[in-house]
Amino acid sequence: MAGTSLTLARRSPIRDGRRVAHGWTPLSWRDRDVRQQPAYPDPDALAAATRELAAYPGLVSLSEMDALHQALGEAQMRRAFLLQGGDCAESFAEFSPETIRAGHTLMDAMASLLARATGVPVIRLARLAGQFAKPRSTDPEVRGDARLPAYRGDIVNGIAFDRAARTPDPERMFRAYGQATATLSHLRSLSRASGKPIYTSHEALLLDYEAALVRIENGRAFSSAAHFLWIGDRTRFPGSAHVEFARGLANPVGIKCGPSLEPEALIAMLEALDPEREPGRVTLIIRMGADLIDHRLPPLIRAVRALGRPVLWSCDPMHGNTIKSASGYKTRALERIMAETRRFFEICTAEGAIPGGMHLEMTGQDVTECTGGLVPVMEENLGDRYHTHCDPRLNAGQALELAALVGGLARQTVQEA
Ligand code: PEP
Ligand code: CO
Repeated sequence: MAGTSLTLARRSPIRDGRRVAHGWTPLSWRDRDVRQQPAYPDPDALAAATRELAAYPGLVSLSEMDALHQALGEAQMRRAFLLQGGDCAESFAEFSPETIRAGHTLMDAMASLLARATGVPVIRLARLAGQFAKPRSTDPEVRGDARLPAYRGDIVNGIAFDRAARTPDPERMFRAYGQATATLSHLRSLSRASGKPIYTSHEALLLDYEAALVRIENGRAFSSAAHFLWIGDRTRFPGSAHVEFARGLANPVGIKCGPSLEPEALIAMLEALDPEREPGRVTLIIRMGADLIDHRLPPLIRAVRALGRPVLWSCDPMHGNTIKSASGYKTRALERIMAETRRFFEICTAEGAIPGGMHLEMTGQDVTECTGGLVPVMEENLGDRYHTHCDPRLNAGQALELAALVGGLARQTVQEA
């Protein structure tokens, strides 16, 4: 695959003189600390798959990506607001036009509500059309006497707890690529009807796949897999392969900021990812949990502000508030999600940062995965329609309720400015 990337680079005309970041190649991450990758049993099959993918057309264009980059810069200045949301993990099983349409309708409704409340344009960034790979806290998974590789998302292996399903299979990358392509195409036609652009994003986790979708145009390397990529909380440590990979991409990038992130480590990542201090380049996705945000967020804001670094502050009130219900379901209470969201806005405002975005796991389907809401999902009903392949998502009603809260909070910050 290294050969393919170099071939791409040689073929690409360098018109504007811009070059890729110093010392970076689509595969330079291999020399760093690589975590959260599957153990493919057949390295030759993996190499063959990524070689083939490297020759496929990209999903997104450089010009669309630049438009998003610029819009995120506007959000940093309070002139736009970011709404990023979708599945925790897309699955092959839930792939249908109805699911995509319901997700689009929900995002549209939330974005309209937020735009009316704030008076600024809302950036629609779907967590979709490529969100297939999942990091895991424990691997292997043990049930009774059986030990099998953990499920790492449909792009890697199957969710069923049997040896055949759980064995990582590079052929799954093609199905993920195909589903992402069709999802994006459907989203595009829906967004043309509504007259508002929609952008796509996912966690850049499965590095062999991500590297195969890097394209080089006009001397600029970018991920053609999505407009926006983020680095997960488990892969954003000093020396990380994932930070190295993202460093060389022209895409706007996100960093998940969980409670273990120290200000020094954050600053080091910002220096690596954004040496030119470009507006719109980095979005910090804060996911501390309602209990820890008061303690962990202020030092990060102070460190970033002390250096005058431009970042977009966004709130993920989902991932720090995951619990296990008495009946064994992974769930989240809407109340806790709302509590963290409120504190995010209050802390940003008190510390002189602009709260400019939300990052949510949600679906247009009427699922029972998170508890609470005006038409409440009770703990005992979680089993009714619990469909997620990973973390619990807000259903449409819960997501709209949260959007109403965010609209109020964001309007206040716009008025105070
Ligand atoms: C996710 O966004 O699904 C996720 C795994 O988040 P985090 O990296 O913040 O834990
Ligand atoms: Co998740």
